[in-house]
Amino acid sequence: MAKKDTFYITTPLYYPSANLTIGHTYTTVAVDALARYKRLQEYDVKFLTGTDEHGQKIEEVAKERGIKPKEYVDGIVSDIKKLWEDLDITYDIFIRTTDDYHKETVKKIFQKLYDAGDIYKGVYEGYYCTPCEAFFTESQLNEGKCPDCGRDVKMEKEETYFFKLSKYQDRILKLLEDNPDFLQPEYRRNEMINNFLKPGLDDLSVTRSSFDWGIKVPFDEEHVIYVWTDALSNYISGLGYLSDDDSDYKKYWPADIHFVGKEIVRFHTIIWPAILMALGEELPKHVFAHGWILFGDDKMSKSKGNVIYPEPIIDLYGVDALKYFLLREFTFGQDGSFTKEKFMNRLNSDLANDLGNLVSRTVAMIDKYNGGIIPEAKEEGEFDEQLKELAISTPNIIDGHMDKLKYSNALEDIWKLISRTNKYIDETTPWILAKDVDKKARLDTVLYNLAESIRIVSVLIRPFMENTSNEIWKQLGIDRSEMTTWESLSDWGGLESGLNVRKSKPMFPRLDVKEEIKRLDEENQKLIDARKGVKKKEKKMEENYISIDDFDKVDLRVAEILKAEKHPNADKLLVFKLKVGEEERQIVSGIADVYAPEELVGKKVVIVANLKPIKLRGVESQGMILSAEKSEAISLLTTLEDIDSGAKVL
Ligand code: ME8
Ligand code: MG
Repeated sequence: MAKKDTFYITTPLYYPSANLTIGHTYTTVAVDALARYKRLQEYDVKFLTGTDEHGQKIEEVAKERGIKPKEYVDGIVSDIKKLWEDLDITYDIFIRTTDDYHKETVKKIFQKLYDAGDIYKGVYEGYYCTPCEAFFTESQLNEGKCPDCGRDVKMEKEETYFFKLSKYQDRILKLLEDNPDFLQPEYRRNEMINNFLKPGLDDLSVTRSSFDWGIKVPFDEEHVIYVWTDALSNYISGLGYLSDDDSDYKKYWPADIHFVGKEIVRFHTIIWPAILMALGEELPKHVFAHGWILFGDDKMSKSKGNVIYPEPIIDLYGVDALKYFLLREFTFGQDGSFTKEKFMNRLNSDLANDLGNLVSRTVAMIDKYNGGIIPEAKEEGEFDEQLKELAISTPNIIDGHMDKLKYSNALEDIWKLISRTNKYIDETTPWILAKDVDKKARLDTVLYNLAESIRIVSVLIRPFMENTSNEIWKQLGIDRSEMTTWESLSDWGGLESGLNVRKSKPMFPRLDVKEEIKRLDEENQKLIDARKGVKKKEKKMEENYISIDDFDKVDLRVAEILKAEKHPNADKLLVFKLKVGEEERQIVSGIADVYAPEELVGKKVVIVANLKPIKLRGVESQGMILSAEKSEAISLLTTLEDIDSGAKVL
């Protein structure tokens, strides 16, 4: 084991376009388990996660809600952080692409690519999928729809900056062909090679000018940087790349593994390496593509109405049950279908029956047959060797699986040790040994071996289920110590005798599957309704709001009064001649009671310049002069400094 080596792993950055589902939780739980596993082996781990907050999709969702994009994302991002807190996710860095430091770095990256001649200006014409934030050519579409998500695409034509992706095609093809480990699983690699690299790469449009919500191109403020260029850069901006302090970048980059969902492999294994090549930086060592958690046959989604949020599962069954289920049930890399039945059944069989029972039986026997004290092993017997051998060889087996990110196999093999230990109870029948005083030495050994095997299990499951591991230590009277390190697993007998066990209630009570499904459905529905409720409330407020676009429609200008005179047919009205920039116009205003015409000449006022002209008592008025009014008091608005007429008021 290479001690103190660094290990840098990342989740994708989540779009805060909606609350996260079990599907999103899956990736983060997997990355977290690996981070914990590597820390247990004393690697110097850096674990980055965060949120991908710019782009057209977020701008549109915020607009629908009638709030500013930043306000919108702030709300969801705090829900996401709360979810990771509830799940005990041990990230070291939570990056938001709206963080100032990230934005600075992205601008520098863009500038660097431009200076190197890898970015040039042109016109983009093609299709765009807003939910995926991805460009496609006609031939890449699947029956006219987005090939990634199957939704409608829009034809876009806009001035844009391109990144010379085509220039890197050969190097990327070589990267994938020569390094089978770079992208796993294997079939994803073939997909990239055959579907994208072999047909040839087009240059990539890396700016948008038809909307605003993004990081501005440093040398052309009409453009915002394409959300994927922005988001991918997080993996290095999060380490301080191109900042005053880039020590973490120097220490942790290149990443050991980027974990990504299968639909975003192309971005991580073609576009991202090309950007890094253009920057002259090292490439990530591995990209691992996991599958989707489906609900029935569908990807879980709010719009399909089949969403299950992780929060009610955590509330009802605890964090460890959810983590165990996600990592044990599905083969990492492939799609898997989530059902509540499968979840409840795993809880009952693996957690309540196998692990839960083993611990409570063992603790109860130590309590009953040895006054609650873990005895010393004294007399070897049949079955001991088998148990010890399996226990001692299991850590290496787990290591082999974790190396290949085979979480499910790792847990399966830990559970083989649990089953073997349960079987050892049946084989050695401690309750019969307890009836014979001559067998006390053998009974003590059996009890010790059981407790020792459980200790080993408690360390092995720690990266996946920390609460359960803690609970076992509590019941066995173990403190965090040499008994709980990864090294302690290499020899049998690390458990001290003489510790006081503590009987507790079952760690995982058996569940009535039908009843629990009903309960989970109810809690999930409550949360769906509550989240809808929030949306409705936002909608109501929205009725009183105008958007910035609405405000932009009003053309306010500074105007200089050239002439003011009484309206021929109305006492309260004055007729003004105004200079607005180069232009002259006439406005009728009802302020004759307050101001004498001659005192206003030469004054600068604010007018609404694009109000539809109307006739007031027969005299045309081309706009409106702004004034503040309260009761009888009226005061014309003017600027604090002397501003040229025609100036826009924002
Ligand atoms: O793609 N099962 O964000 P995202 C498994 N912002 N994984 C799922 C899932 C499911 N049902 N639903 C979503 C983005 N995911 C970009 C990434 S990285 C620089 C930018 C996974 O919120 C999905 O596969 O749409 C992806 O890996 C991740 O959640 C984020 O998806
Ligand atoms: Mg997505």
